Amino acid sequence: MNNSPLDPDSAILDLRTGYRLAAEFYDRWHWQEFWRRNELPVVREWLASLDAGNVLDAGAGTGLYRAVIESSGHRGIGLDISREMLLVQRRTHPEAMQVQGSLDALPFRDSSLDYILSTRVLTHVPALLLVFREFARTVRPGGQLLLADLHPEHPYSTMSIKANRRKISIEIRKYSIEELKDSIGAAGLHLVEFRSYGLKDIAWKPPHEGFKNVYRDPTHPIFYTAQLVRP
Ligand SMILES: C[S@@+](CC[C@H](N)C(=O)[O-])C[C@H]1O[C@@H](n2cnc3c(N)ncnc32)[C@H](O)[C@@H]1O
Repeated sequence: MNNSPLDPDSAILDLRTGYRLAAEFYDRWHWQEFWRRNELPVVREWLASLDAGNVLDAGAGTGLYRAVIESSGHRGIGLDISREMLLVQRRTHPEAMQVQGSLDALPFRDSSLDYILSTRVLTHVPALLLVFREFARTVRPGGQLLLADLHPEHPYSTMSIKANRRKISIEIRKYSIEELKDSIGAAGLHLVEFRSYGLKDIAWKPPHEGFKNVYRDPTHPIFYTAQLVRP
């Protein structure tokens, strides 16, 4: 096919435009099934290990973890930069506490959060260190954080979400694990546990259709989780 630069199927969209257009389709995206089956159990186990407290879901999107946070006995706060993603979340969770804002300028007081969860958002931020400084400022001493994201060794270059017959491609950034760990340390946070998940580690193996990248080199990690604490 002869894609022109104005063809939405060939354009890589900036974050805000991309999620504005993708919001209505996001929950039906085939990768959401992958995260529900393979990432959600890790998040649930982490939440269950914590005393009750407030949990900032940083980059909460359409609210995949909203119900899991509440059913684990915590109070959730969903923050996202995209108004449209939050509007979708509002439809399924009308009572939920929501804030529109950015990870690198969190609208919360120092040490006011007990826990921070952030799933697949760091691949979008322009500066990791700014984000970790904000996490370190707003979480209380002893407060814990769980991050999850695609592993930089996974062969992806954009986020592509199917929207009817169109494909919405959203820009992403790849940070190496060294950059990630350096920024965590530089912000004064402590890495408690880092885990990589490849095909052999995940309970739900996706079908080949739609997940070709996962099978291209089955030894490659697909995503990682990092558990942190503010000393
Ligand atoms: C891949 S989605 C993940 C959503 C949700 N965490 C989940 O697990 O389904 C990434 C989300 O991060 C949000 N996001 C990206 N950069 C952000 C930033 N700097 N501050 C707040 N939200 C951001 C996007 O708007 C989008 O909703």
